Amino acid sequence: MKVLGIETSCDETAAAVVELGNANGGARLRSNIVASSMDLHKQYGGVVPEIAARSHIEAITPIIKQALAAANCDWPDIDAIAVTYGAGLGGSLLIGVLTARTLAIIKDKPLYACNHVEGHVYANFITSTTLPDYSMPPRQPKFPMLALIVSGGHTQLTLFRNHFDYELLGRTQDDAIGEAFDKVAKIIGLPYPGGPSVEKGGRAGDSRRFKLPKAKMPGYDFSFSGLKTAVLRLAQAEIGKDFSFPSHEIPSLLSDQQRIDIAASFTRVAIETVVDKTSRAYEEYQPKAVVIAGGVAASQELRRKLSEALPIAIEYPNFKLCTDNGAMIATLGAYKAMLGQPPADPYSLEIQPNLSM
Ligand code: KG4
Ligand code: ZN
Repeated sequence: MKVLGIETSCDETAAAVVELGNANGGARLRSNIVASSMDLHKQYGGVVPEIAARSHIEAITPIIKQALAAANCDWPDIDAIAVTYGAGLGGSLLIGVLTARTLAIIKDKPLYACNHVEGHVYANFITSTTLPDYSMPPRQPKFPMLALIVSGGHTQLTLFRNHFDYELLGRTQDDAIGEAFDKVAKIIGLPYPGGPSVEKGGRAGDSRRFKLPKAKMPGYDFSFSGLKTAVLRLAQAEIGKDFSFPSHEIPSLLSDQQRIDIAASFTRVAIETVVDKTSRAYEEYQPKAVVIAGGVAASQELRRKLSEALPIAIEYPNFKLCTDNGAMIATLGAYKAMLGQPPADPYSLEIQPNLSM
């Protein structure tokens, strides 16, 4: 079966086609088109919801057309449509959901409503492709599967006993890890989006130069706001100022060495925090597979530390499928369709900006 996936929960307008032969085989990626309005948000240092929504309106129809064309498909070839209905920005979600509802009605296709965060996990179920330049894990993960979900909006550990049968083990009680990366980038003056720039900037730095605190949270919960504040205080102290010094004036007073050493020290502590809890969860639940999902899963440092910490081999998803994309949503939709999950009503599906797993 071939499924068109549509994703518009934040600043990426994305559509993709995947193909699924059976529920044990892994999905085959046939196209993956992503248009980002990131450049328009750069000057504001973060996503501006109104700009994101307007960009989705402009991009959505051409992106879907491109996704079909790149997959060598026409509407009669498509068996179902999958769309992100939450969590995300209201105005952004609306564009994707209204487009998908309309297409489902006029093209007469079943519509599958997908949770964005669950979608990120399903990037791990894409195991082959017709496209060049995609390295893929060779097989789909086995259950029980432990998923570390690390994005700009979420940080959580979830145990999947099977498809659609999962238990939340713990999650962040304040900031998400990606959000902390983005805020630290702003404090020390590295470009938006902060995750990749802090991680890359930090590679040349001394990750042991500064002592930063690791939050001690109960069970499998996380907290990153204390770490972010500690970075702010450290940066202020490094330039000889006190806590009242405005953060937007810090970057111009930091030396390049201070900047990359702070980036490296922060990255080490943030990554160690999620790797430590993932190791503990692995020990307790003894899953057959561990997967990572979400934008921060693109971090090479996270991949390296996790592989060192766990006694099983981990197959990582393609970098291009870690940040927001339509392929992960198409894949989740394909498994829903294949395994008999009920489709949504295209006349009434509503967005759920605060949807959780
Ligand atoms: O999954 P995603 O594209 O959007 C959300 O659903 O939130 O994740 C975006 C987040 C941002 O916070 C970004 O800074 C972070 O993922 N990110 C990274 C890297 N690439 C993206 N964080 C650390 N290292 C990276 N290489
Ligand atoms: Zn995401």
